[in-house]
Amino acid sequence: MAGFKIAILISGRGSNMAALIEAAKAEDFPAQVALVLSNREDAQGLATARAANIPTQVIKHGDFEGREAFDAAMTEVLAAADVRLICLAGFMRLLSPEFCQRWRDSLINIHPSLLPAFKGLNVHERMLETGVRIGGCTVHYVRPAMDEGPIIVQAAVPIASDDTPDTLAARILEQEHRIYPLAVRLIAEGRARTAGGMVALDSFELPEIRLINPPTQ
Ligand code: GAR
Repeated sequence: MAGFKIAILISGRGSNMAALIEAAKAEDFPAQVALVLSNREDAQGLATARAANIPTQVIKHGDFEGREAFDAAMTEVLAAADVRLICLAGFMRLLSPEFCQRWRDSLINIHPSLLPAFKGLNVHERMLETGVRIGGCTVHYVRPAMDEGPIIVQAAVPIASDDTPDTLAARILEQEHRIYPLAVRLIAEGRARTAGGMVALDSFELPEIRLINPPTQ
């Protein structure tokens, strides 16, 4: 089994978590999912993780005095699990600057837009209201400001005139499930490094990394 341990942090459905768990089943995948951590005990994704025999833990943010104390409790659990990379996957809590610094360059997030456009919530509604023709998704290293940080992989999704927030979200989600495992692979294989506020990718001869939309693997 791969020695590069990752943790996945969820608050809800956990479909990106499921995509990572599924990808990690492949023999050549360079990372293993060592822990799924949730701030909500009712997160749907917890059942999915348990069914896949992945260790899970719940740390309820409401049990703590403030953000720093909650984040410190997560850091303790994550350090004990010996993880090299933390993947936020629909984890709907802002993280303290201390947490972001402690895990700097070992903490990544997925967001359903082509960042830096459309940070924040209700992304799909806002894209339709704004009239942009192309949406997409981004995996990026986390910095203290919300949905900010060096970009690792993106995929573009054309927007149709009859799209609703739900139909658009579903098509973007399909791409999220492709680029999150790709980003984890690049990092675990040591092919992605932060440099000057951006991510430098090694092995640039690999065509799938240069393309906007990676082909199905
Ligand atoms: C995903 O679309 C993810 O990109 C988004 O939440 C959804 C979680 O779905 N994350 C953010 O908006 C972070 N700013 P999932 O629980 O099925 O993976």
